[in-house]
Amino acid sequence: MQTLTVALADRAYPIHIGRGLLGRAELILPHLKTRRVAIVTNDTVGPLYLEVLRTALEQAGVKVSTVSLPDGEAFKDWETLNRIFDMLLAERCERSTTLVALGGGVVGDMGGFAAACYQRGMPFIQIPTTLLAQVDSSVGGKTAINHPLGKNMIGAFYQPRLVLADIDTLATLPDRELSAGLAEVIKYGLIRDPVFLEWLEANLDRLVVRDPDALAYAIERSCRNKAEVVVADETEQGERALLNLGHTFGHAIETGLGYGEWLHGEAVAAGTLMAAELSRRLGWLSDADVGRIEALFVRAKLPVWGPSLGAARYLELMSHDKKVEAGRLRLVLLRELGRAVIHGDAAQAELVAAIEARCR
Ligand code: NAD
Ligand code: GLY
Repeated sequence: MQTLTVALADRAYPIHIGRGLLGRAELILPHLKTRRVAIVTNDTVGPLYLEVLRTALEQAGVKVSTVSLPDGEAFKDWETLNRIFDMLLAERCERSTTLVALGGGVVGDMGGFAAACYQRGMPFIQIPTTLLAQVDSSVGGKTAINHPLGKNMIGAFYQPRLVLADIDTLATLPDRELSAGLAEVIKYGLIRDPVFLEWLEANLDRLVVRDPDALAYAIERSCRNKAEVVVADETEQGERALLNLGHTFGHAIETGLGYGEWLHGEAVAAGTLMAAELSRRLGWLSDADVGRIEALFVRAKLPVWGPSLGAARYLELMSHDKKVEAGRLRLVLLRELGRAVIHGDAAQAELVAAIEARCR
């Protein structure tokens, strides 16, 4: 097991990464306020992993309540969030009860938001079971639900007390979901870690076949990058926005097609190439640089073209982005491979051209 720390002073917390961690209650116990836990999972992950976690906690003397949500991005909404509150109240959970989110990013984001709201804040633990959640969404305290007009628009910054990433859970992950997680892994290389980018170019095929050593390395390196950014800028006043490379375009794809049609990571991949194309038009990336990004996504079995929603529809959807300031769209672009910047001055015509060039 490897352990990193998200060094947020009195709210610092560990990220444990390794195999066979789900049944190790001793890793969880030190982070509980009382021996009372409410586990939030979903109808896919629950049947696979809830029992081993629940049994380990109960054998350690912890009283456990559970709720299983319907599976899917389409259920990341108010109505489904309310089911968590229904369970917490029906089971008489207290402010000192710890909410444990067992699942992918949807369960983690919703469980975290519920924990932030219930009795104005209860302790919270993330047990991510997708690659995307293990390298990104479980770390850093962004929690949210979607609104029909925009993704992740209702939420809170609320840090967990522990992240427990059991790599063995990735064995049951569908191939398409593994690929979606790789989009966020590649992101770290592109925005701030050129050495990791080169490692990915050399080792991506090992990740695609789920080599455990390669996965452990990529998860640890990704979490290290994420933790550094979160510590530097917890509430996204600056640097943290760089983690959203490809996301402004990607969120437009997700919202425009309807939540759940494309996976988040798939939309991020196509969106990253739109950002790369705009960076190329600004003279920051070469054709060869864009080709390197595209080749990595192709090897990761990710889409490299966006859906043809029409540039006007993209712009309309992108205007709801959280990085919009005083009505001005601010985009994460690549100054070079391994170095992202925020850019608020892209000419509309260039933006439209970049979108159109990357749609099919
Ligand atoms: P997800 O939670 O929908 O999980 C993907 C699918 O895999 C689901 O069907 C899920 O039930 C299933 N699954 C999960 N673990 C499994 C396992 N071990 N074996 C088999 N199936 C399993 O999607 P995701 O990609 O994990 O997360 C995407 C969400 O995360 C989006 O809503 C996105 O907005 C959010 N996100 C949040 C942050 C953040 O910082 N909070 C960062 C990135 C993404
Ligand atoms: N996934 C983007 C962030 O955590 O800031």
